[in-house]
Amino acid sequence: MKKLFIVALITLVGLQANAQERDWAAEVSDKITISKALFKMGDDMTWANRDVDDSSWGEIDVTKCWNEQGYPAHNNGFAWYRIHVNIPKSSTDQQNVIVVNIPKVDDADECFVNGKRIGGSGSMPTSKDGYATGVFAPERYYEAGVKETGIRLGEDNVIAIRAYNRGGGGGMCEDSVYVFFPKAADGLSLRLNDISESQHRCDVEIVNKYATISNGLLEIKLIDRETGAVAKSIKKMVSVKRGKPTVVSVPYDSNVMYQLTATYTDEKIGEVFEETRQLKYILTPPTPETPRFNNAPVFGVRPGSPIIYRFAVSGERPMKLRGNNIPEGVELTEEGVLIGSIKNAGDYTFTVTAENAKGKDTQFFTIKVGADKIGQTPPMGWNSWNCWGLSVSQEKVIASAQALIDKGLADYGYSYVNIDDGWEADERNADGSVEANEKFPSMKGLIDWLHERGLKFGIYSTPGATTCGNYTGSLGYEKEDAAKYNEWGVDYLKYDWCSYEDERHKNNDWGYASCIRPYLLMQQYLRQQPRDIFYSLGPLGGTEVHLWGLYCDGDSWRTAPDIEDDWATVYRVGFRLQEGKSQYSSVGHWNDPDMLVVGKVGWGRGELRETRLTPDEQYTHITLWTLLASNMLIGCDIAQMDDFTVKLLCNNEVNAINQDVLGKQADLTKKDGDIEIWSRPLADGSIAVGVFNVGDVDHEVDLKALIPSDKSAKVIRDVWRQKNLADEELKCNIPLHGCRYLKVAF
Ligand code: GAL
Repeated sequence: MKKLFIVALITLVGLQANAQERDWAAEVSDKITISKALFKMGDDMTWANRDVDDSSWGEIDVTKCWNEQGYPAHNNGFAWYRIHVNIPKSSTDQQNVIVVNIPKVDDADECFVNGKRIGGSGSMPTSKDGYATGVFAPERYYEAGVKETGIRLGEDNVIAIRAYNRGGGGGMCEDSVYVFFPKAADGLSLRLNDISESQHRCDVEIVNKYATISNGLLEIKLIDRETGAVAKSIKKMVSVKRGKPTVVSVPYDSNVMYQLTATYTDEKIGEVFEETRQLKYILTPPTPETPRFNNAPVFGVRPGSPIIYRFAVSGERPMKLRGNNIPEGVELTEEGVLIGSIKNAGDYTFTVTAENAKGKDTQFFTIKVGADKIGQTPPMGWNSWNCWGLSVSQEKVIASAQALIDKGLADYGYSYVNIDDGWEADERNADGSVEANEKFPSMKGLIDWLHERGLKFGIYSTPGATTCGNYTGSLGYEKEDAAKYNEWGVDYLKYDWCSYEDERHKNNDWGYASCIRPYLLMQQYLRQQPRDIFYSLGPLGGTEVHLWGLYCDGDSWRTAPDIEDDWATVYRVGFRLQEGKSQYSSVGHWNDPDMLVVGKVGWGRGELRETRLTPDEQYTHITLWTLLASNMLIGCDIAQMDDFTVKLLCNNEVNAINQDVLGKQADLTKKDGDIEIWSRPLADGSIAVGVFNVGDVDHEVDLKALIPSDKSAKVIRDVWRQKNLADEELKCNIPLHGCRYLKVAF
């Protein structure tokens, strides 16, 4: 029926360890190495089955992409691999599960054993959520139950891999396929789930994926990181079965900085599993029940443009807002949204009072009307990219927007709801206008829904023909796109770069002018619209947009490549790449080191995950971004945001520094080994100071000695904790990657 050309090599893996392999794969005593497969372009789900006549299929080397071995690139196309493999009985201590370890697949894949799907990476364009690229990490480990997939030991079985290529290299690349029986202990995992609800707890969970029962000792220690004291110690014998995880909940006080360590020792084989986690701690004081204005006292708009401005007021609901001397043409709804427009340029100052059953608060507020008044303070809100990537949909946007209101973030000034790449339809309409794809059934409906709630809407495009995610770009249709944005009611445009690089290549045009030109073109069409559209420039690729963004009337521009949720990236993007850039930032023209990576993120690559930054690193991230007068665009799914993250993003004194009306970005003002001091002057004459420990060990510091001023400080305030520091509190420890945030008055 088929050519049996695949040689199943049983190798002693210990002798030829592959650098890319995970330890548990490298440790198995015998595994099957497969470097050749049968191959066919096209897509047919029946090709997953065991009994398919594949005698006419071609042969392929799985260690190289298909386009490197005579096959066409086949962009936006599918191809299948079929591997016939004889799996013999193994010498490991379990025979219920095999692992199919496949190398990097460019760009998305699904893997089947004898017709049963056992895993996949990314998402296929044919799926409900649409296309998303697979994990960038090269390897995939898919597990198959021997019974569930009908594996016959000692006989022929079929592994089928469905691959989708979006562009560039196609299919499996970089390594062989490996098949092996993992050890029973490989099915065990120890996880710590730090859960931040109104009551904080850390769940210690032991999971056993395989059928062999594990008995052993679980030990848990909760340690106060500031004093070193052991606050809780638990020792327990447990028995862990497949499908029944062992869970031990450890409640803790979120006002204390704790570390939790859990150790599980399997009694039979003596294998030890250990996990340590810094637990979430909350520094922001509770929100008072009385009304409090949390927004900057200013908003900018062009003459005649529609005003939609939601006052950010925290406090118990119901609450009523009323204005006194509100300028003509503008009204304040009871919910606290300013609507209307003002014809003539000028500053319009009035008072707004918010009142509830517990009390009231009044703010002096100025609407600045003028052609150059957009973006008086850095925009605050949400963007879909860091969580949903290209799988963004109308439903997901609404869920985050609703949560922005329900969880109180809108009461702290987060008001933009921005979609990133992935909304565009492939084809333009006959008149050249752009359309949203099927994931956005009604763009106008979505935007109206947001505006009714006083929120604003942002969209994404690129000056090139296609976006970075390979969707429709604006090249040649800038005028139509700007008009469409106005028709829909768009308030923010993130204008990226990506394929515009092709135009520069085509024209062999490499100066700054070649960057400025496409941005200026869109700027002219945007500014012709009778509404304000915040213009955020996103080019990368060494084009140094901060040097010329101002000439395109950009309201903000990226000053770093894409952020990721790990310390190395946050350190590079936030610290190293922002040094010396404060001179390019000014009111209405902000530097943007990219969006926030707190909460649950994932870029549309499968399940969302909790940010990999530790709580200390998250405090550092937010402290630095507020000092940098950066756009504050939350990158996680707000619907799934926990209490810790809400408190991290909703500290009114921290956010007030970001929104300070002087609009001066912080500089690196002092560096002493691992300790970096970033500071900025504030409108009230004080300075904001971030004291960061960017090293890999804790440091004792004297905060007073680090204040970058010749004047003597009268009040040194801890901004996160919102309390003035006494002399004896100024000598303190800053944990690695942690910080202290000060406001210093003279
Ligand atoms: C990148 C950009 C990201 C995101 C992505 C969309 O160039 O930096 O923030 O917008 O494109 O494809």
